[in-house]
Amino acid sequence: MFKRGFGCGPSMPFFKKLDYDRAAGLYDLLDGSGLPYEEAARKIATVFQKHNVHTLLDMACGTGNFTIPLYRQGYQILGVDFHKGMLTEARRKALATHARIPFRQGDMCRDYFGQFDGITCMFNAIGHLTPREFNDALWQFNLQLRKKGILVFDIFNFSWLRDHFTYTTFMDQAGKSVGAWFVRFNHNALDERSKVMRVHQHTFVQQNRLLSHYKEEWDMQTYELRELETLLHLNGFDVLHVWGDYSTKKGFEEFKNDKSRSITLVAQKNG
Ligand SMILES: C[S@@+](CC[C@H](N)C(=O)[O-])C[C@H]1O[C@@H](n2cnc3c(N)ncnc32)[C@H](O)[C@@H]1O
Repeated sequence: MFKRGFGCGPSMPFFKKLDYDRAAGLYDLLDGSGLPYEEAARKIATVFQKHNVHTLLDMACGTGNFTIPLYRQGYQILGVDFHKGMLTEARRKALATHARIPFRQGDMCRDYFGQFDGITCMFNAIGHLTPREFNDALWQFNLQLRKKGILVFDIFNFSWLRDHFTYTTFMDQAGKSVGAWFVRFNHNALDERSKVMRVHQHTFVQQNRLLSHYKEEWDMQTYELRELETLLHLNGFDVLHVWGDYSTKKGFEEFKNDKSRSITLVAQKNG
């Protein structure tokens, strides 16, 4: 199943994971706030309608930002995430919005949660997996989808990243929310051989004149479209549609290899 030639090269021998339990309290402030969850849920629902999708697994659901809009689109949905801290936030928000969604802890590379018409794994979750883990996850997704079930996921587009990579330090978040000032600096590296981006982030949060500093370092696996197509094919999926970037203004755009930062794939189990 695993395609030879993938994997971290010698310059990046270890694949570093982000501890989302530590980051859970800041996730919505720093990452979740700018993402077009509502638009994405509406767009993906149009695809699901065509393929008779009623039951959904939202894998790597995080704090439930995408699970809740999908639930509101009328799906019977289960949210699963690896990190307990993210699930605590998800449950709290579901309760507050009267969304009757079960959330469970699990690993997308190993765990089985039942049979579903569709699986979503959105907003850079796949990038946290090594290529071998991703291959295992695709196999698990296949097992959990009914015949002709639909899988939707996204990932950074290596072709775009290689040509537009920022090697200098930059600020990607700054502002004030719920009485706290926050600012985040990034200094990232891209290993072109393994296609792994190593993210270094320093986040400062000031509340009541008390300054906290969080330092995170983790890896993001990126892919080219043809690699994803091969992996999907090897794991029993046909690609139905490829979208590019998503934004709150425009929703999903069509994919263009040199212009799209992200690749969003809609795939169908071919058995
Ligand atoms: C960038 S967040 C995306 C969260 C959510 N989908 C959203 O759009 O807000 C990535 C999520 O992937 C989860 N994750 C990472 N590895 C995982 C794994 N092996 N199995 C399940 N979830 C995982 C993390 O805990 C985190 O919540």
